[in-house]
Amino acid sequence: MPERRSLQRLTADEIMAALKVALRAEYQAVADYGRHARATDQPEIRQALETLCDVEREHAMRLQARISALGGTAVDQVPEPQPMGDTTAAWLAQDLQAEQWAIVEYARLVAGIVDDDETTELMAELLLDEIRHAGWLKATLRTLEQAD
Ligand SMILES: [Fe+2]
Ligand SMILES: [Fe+2]
Repeated sequence: MPERRSLQRLTADEIMAALKVALRAEYQAVADYGRHARATDQPEIRQALETLCDVEREHAMRLQARISALGGTAVDQVPEPQPMGDTTAAWLAQDLQAEQWAIVEYARLVAGIVDDDETTELMAELLLDEIRHAGWLKATLRTLEQAD
């Protein structure tokens, strides 16, 4: 039996703020996956990263639409890619860190949104994608580490 906790119930303002942070993170992922895809010399990894980039772009568009539907204004800003390390493994580790953040944050929203089923459903769908992305990154990182 877990210890008693108070009910989490995010307010509309908290949800809107979190959706905007998530949108920025999705744009960051688009920028980073795009850059890492262009940088790697391994064709299979490049193709997978391009696919991830497309999925993150779709996530950004869906978040934009949800923010607008809730009355917020979403900025269409594509950030610069983050500074990167020297190896494919270093880039993938950076990408995995971003996915780990998204998994924890999106799960927090799925758990804590009580009054808005549509946003909960959206974040649950995005969360499942991020879990799959993290799974591919973890498996690929292990393969690269074994090859060292
Ligand atoms: Fe995403
Ligand atoms: Fe992702």
